[in-house]
Amino acid sequence: MTPLIDTFDRVHDNLRISVTDRCNIRCFYCMPEEGVKFQPREEILTFEEIERFVRIAVTMGVRKLRLTGGEPLLRKGLPDLIRRLSAIDGIQDLALTTNAVLLAEQAQELYDAGLRRLNIHLDTLDRERFKQITRRDDFGRVMNGIETALRIGFPVLKINAVAVKNLVEADIVPLARFGREHGIEIRYIEFMPLDAQGIWDHGKVLLADDMIAMLTREIGPLREIPDGDPRAPATEYEFADGKGRVGFIASVSKPFCLNCNRIRLTADGKFRYCLFAIDETDMRVLLRTGAPSPETDQAIANAIRQSVKDKWIGHQINTSKFVPPPRPMYQIGG
Ligand code: 5AD
Ligand code: SF4
Repeated sequence: MTPLIDTFDRVHDNLRISVTDRCNIRCFYCMPEEGVKFQPREEILTFEEIERFVRIAVTMGVRKLRLTGGEPLLRKGLPDLIRRLSAIDGIQDLALTTNAVLLAEQAQELYDAGLRRLNIHLDTLDRERFKQITRRDDFGRVMNGIETALRIGFPVLKINAVAVKNLVEADIVPLARFGREHGIEIRYIEFMPLDAQGIWDHGKVLLADDMIAMLTREIGPLREIPDGDPRAPATEYEFADGKGRVGFIASVSKPFCLNCNRIRLTADGKFRYCLFAIDETDMRVLLRTGAPSPETDQAIANAIRQSVKDKWIGHQINTSKFVPPPRPMYQIGG
């Protein structure tokens, strides 16, 4: 089948799948503090449905998968899903993004199931600030999780840190030092307008250039790594002394929509052509209409193709036209 190309000639081979909207912490840039209404179980795709969807997407050129949440480790039996998905012919890359609260308990099982790439979400090495950001006191568990993952030896281990201005300035350098010490790439993600309480504004974004300046001043010069994959969202650097890497996902100050290769499936089975999309396509209803057959598979493939065809040029965060998506980050999956 022809690949998933949109009207801007972007080829989509990277599918991000949210496996749950639940989370055990409450980062303010993603979730409300209280009163979260999670989706009822029957509205969440089963592993069979996810696997079927991926098999169809693979026939259309999808090669890379990332499992997200909410917090994916809250989904019961996740290693089973990892086993199923990594066994699919054509999948070259399977990764997981987690907050690591439950990682110490689960890391070995995940590794044994075939997972090799882990992104851990952690904004600070300061326990108090961790509490302030996540509204939970789980810093110790996260650090345990990271230690366990290091001990097991996941070949790719990265830390995602959300960069919020007037909040995490003091964390930027310690995180990079920690990464240098342990061979973990730190990826700083500019705060995006995806929070549940509508607190985002331009003034709250800590910009990639400012972080680069801080790291250069306090640790040493950085040199840009010639990009292996021009469609990866992060611009990557290594310290000139050869010790350690950092990446910047500058969605706000340097949008990379024109290189986008990503599509998304939410936990409740909605297909999104963009993190910021307003419209979604209901794949769950298609997955649950009739038994799996070449015809029903074709209907799903058609729906995927149609959505990609409708894909817009990109978010318009920097214009007055910008409208935040109707669902916050934890319901989309990042
Ligand atoms: N802006 C930027 N990044 C965010 N994340 C969650 N919410 C936001 C936001 N508002 C990040 C987390 C998580 C990844 C999926 O998205 O770090 O690891
Ligand atoms: Fe949970 Fe991730 Fe959202 Fe934080 S960013 S509340 S860890 S889903």
